[in-house]
Amino acid sequence: MKLIDLIHMNRISQRLSELGEIGKTADQGVYRLALTKEDWHAQELVAQWMREAGMMVKRDHFGNLIGRREGTNPSLPVIMLGSHIDSVPNGGKYDGTTGVIGAIEVVQAIHDAGLEISYPIEVVAFCDEEGPRFSGGFFGSKGMIGKITAADLQQKDEKGITRYEAIQDFGIDPEGMAASVRQRGDIKLYLEMHIEQGPSLQSIDRPVGIVTGIAGLTWLAVKVMGEAGHAGTVPMHLRRDPLVGAAEIIQGIERICGANPSHPTVGTVGRIKANPGGNNVIPASVEFSVDIRDIDLERRNQMVSNVKENMYEVAKKRNLEIEIEELIGIPPISCSNQVIEAMEKANTKLQLGAPRMVSGAGHDAMVMGEITDFGMIFVRCKDGISHNPKEWANPVDIRKGVQLLLETVLYFGMPTNT
Ligand code: HGY
Ligand code: MN
Ligand code: MN
Repeated sequence: MKLIDLIHMNRISQRLSELGEIGKTADQGVYRLALTKEDWHAQELVAQWMREAGMMVKRDHFGNLIGRREGTNPSLPVIMLGSHIDSVPNGGKYDGTTGVIGAIEVVQAIHDAGLEISYPIEVVAFCDEEGPRFSGGFFGSKGMIGKITAADLQQKDEKGITRYEAIQDFGIDPEGMAASVRQRGDIKLYLEMHIEQGPSLQSIDRPVGIVTGIAGLTWLAVKVMGEAGHAGTVPMHLRRDPLVGAAEIIQGIERICGANPSHPTVGTVGRIKANPGGNNVIPASVEFSVDIRDIDLERRNQMVSNVKENMYEVAKKRNLEIEIEELIGIPPISCSNQVIEAMEKANTKLQLGAPRMVSGAGHDAMVMGEITDFGMIFVRCKDGISHNPKEWANPVDIRKGVQLLLETVLYFGMPTNT
């Protein structure tokens, strides 16, 4: 029996559907924020699949769910595969889950084939990759590499629950986090398969791609303050309306980030809230998020400073106060050449025709890449749609991604009994 025959497309499909039922929304999306009861149920289901694949399962102190298959030489560093199963609000069923379920399928195939691999293999469902609940993503992977701060743990969700309390509610003692930090050298390499979340593979009719680099991202939290007033009585020229100021600032973000169409810079405001929020009240203040990304660090940083400069100018012109806080800043990162080359060898062997490509979306891989060699595999997704209930990937393409992931693991794992 060939290894490919041990990768079951139907099992992958069924698991994606089953996982998609947890936190399902009215329009068939997924609302499964980190450290919620939906996240707990999803982790329990994934833990069951990890055990079926012969792995021991645990949660670390950051809420990461980790399945581990021992190698013939447990003293060797880990070959780590992973992604995430938390979602954005009303997201899709394939973002993150494709990589976790695909990684479990790789270990299941190795298990079923009875291959002996000297390296231990771990599959990780990272906690809170998306970040909407506590305004800061990549929490589990940042924790694993020792980059979580006390301030991160005190971030509150909309109900005023801190991340620290949410971790405790998950049955984890946040005080033990140091024991779950991995050092450089603990991990041989990190591999992540993920839907592309963009239209490139579909546009060239390819099922999978080899990622060469991941754009860096900056998240800002902005608060604009003005003067609350009666919507019916304050003349327009006497207002200090922070919402109108925010509108001008947000148009500035679009103008600045889109100034050069040949550049891949992107700027997005995904969340905005007017306080106190009454139909007949000129707002006292407005709070909104800013997400700015680019594959080039210098240009990304330049865009962030241009956007900030414009914010201060608009606030001054409109006699408004403004507070800008940087929530996260992750630099762009190139995937490891030796991993890309290994993937290219597997690509040739499997005749997948996978192109090399850059990721505009952020992934835990960009964090893990700070302490270990890493690579990513993209799977075509319909019309490039993601962070949207219409997100969809063809199981045939996902299976090809799993094949490429499996071949890459075997390239580095060097089974002793094939
Ligand atoms: O924001 C991102 O790029 C990812 O979906 N967390
Ligand atoms: Mn996402
Ligand atoms: Mn994702």
